[in-house]
Amino acid sequence: MGSGYTELFEEVDKLVDEFDVTAETLQAGVDLFIELAQKGLSGDSDEHGLPMIPTYVTSIPDGSEKGVLLAADLGGTNFRVCSVTLNGDHTFNLIQQKSPIPIDLMSGTSDELFSYLASKVVAFVKEHHEEETKSLDHKFKLGFTFSFPVDQTSLNSGSLMRWTKGFDIPDCVGKDVVALLQNHLDEQKCPVQVSALANDTVGTLLARSYTGSNKEGTTVIGCIFGTGTNGAYNEKLENIKKLDPAVVESLKKKGVTHMVINTEWGSFDNALKVLPTSKYDTIVDSLTSNKGFHMFEKRVSGMFLGEILRQILIDLHSRGLLLKQYSTYDSLPHRLRTPWDLSSEVLSLIEIDDSTKLKATELQLNQTLRLPTTPEERLAIQKLTRAVSRRSAYLAAIPIAALLTLTESFKGHHVEVDVGADGSVVEFYPGFRTMMRDAVALTQLGSKGERRLHINIAKDGSSVGAALCALSE
Ligand code: BGC
Repeated sequence: MGSGYTELFEEVDKLVDEFDVTAETLQAGVDLFIELAQKGLSGDSDEHGLPMIPTYVTSIPDGSEKGVLLAADLGGTNFRVCSVTLNGDHTFNLIQQKSPIPIDLMSGTSDELFSYLASKVVAFVKEHHEEETKSLDHKFKLGFTFSFPVDQTSLNSGSLMRWTKGFDIPDCVGKDVVALLQNHLDEQKCPVQVSALANDTVGTLLARSYTGSNKEGTTVIGCIFGTGTNGAYNEKLENIKKLDPAVVESLKKKGVTHMVINTEWGSFDNALKVLPTSKYDTIVDSLTSNKGFHMFEKRVSGMFLGEILRQILIDLHSRGLLLKQYSTYDSLPHRLRTPWDLSSEVLSLIEIDDSTKLKATELQLNQTLRLPTTPEERLAIQKLTRAVSRRSAYLAAIPIAALLTLTESFKGHHVEVDVGADGSVVEFYPGFRTMMRDAVALTQLGSKGERRLHINIAKDGSSVGAALCALSE
């Protein structure tokens, strides 16, 4: 190690320790999650509690569903329009068009955003289904995946509770997002009926059930670890105490026994009773538009990992430990000074760099942040990257273990359980799923539970699931 780095590495070691998540924290997290989930289901929590939103999705597909449906999917980064052909044999075909959401639309007005979304649906229908629209006497059914917390009032209506993941369009909060999309589609004379509203996690749960997870047990959870994070599962009607008794009665008469719950686990432990909180987490929260909310998400999901690391680097620089060639904050490369400019994709490359003197990391930091580094600095940055990602993956085990416990999913001999997951972090971040499993083994489920748990990627799940919802309407 070159001279002058002793203090840096001492500090890095301290931070690595601080970011370590112990078995004790994981188990306390699982207990707290179960407590908050039960409160959420009974309607006994305030706006900072765990939302546990009833979705009005009351049946889980078995793979025999058939039809051609449209799906529109507003995630954290992209908007996708697809047509999904469900073949009725657990398989589907998908045609899709994906467009990045323009940054200025993320903080403009709801009219601007929804008019843009409708125009993308119009263009898609024109390109792929023009002939059918001429001959059809009815409108195409569309399932709308809207990946933000929505207070759902029926399968095809729900008002936005608050924005997450960097969106900030105040006039949209409290409005019915289905009506917003439908109005703009109608204005643009698009022959499409928005017939279902689904969170991306609900879509993932349904899609994974449709494609036949049976080989590895029943699918219990659909979850996303991408720009944001969240999970959905199927709950017994009688446990959802906050549902209107009249609704429960009428559902029971139809033979319904369960309803899918969108937990919005991004908002787990907003009160920070168990979640580890470094000074960097506090700064990151202060930079967001939903301060004090989604505190779990802000430690776990892709949007935040790079920003946490960036805050650490800035701090170590200000203490004269790192990037010493820059004498002041203002002289640091512009991109390193820009919030949110360090993406989790860069972290994923640093994470697995095993080249001599971390040359691959050098290239990455040069290309993405215009940041020259010494080999020692890169080693420090790699250690910190691994600490941030490991904390994220370990914390990710909490809601999974808690929901499997809450639903008594491991009851019975040899029961295997499937969890359908989607999102850039769980799909592409090296080692994320393995670290998450290691952490599950440290929870109350132990290594026995971990061995019987299968976490599988549900590719395109959110769109396919929205189409399945539209079909059931
Ligand atoms: C949203 C959820 C969504 C998750 C994953 C969160 O920020 O609140 O509704 O499911 O991101 O996309």
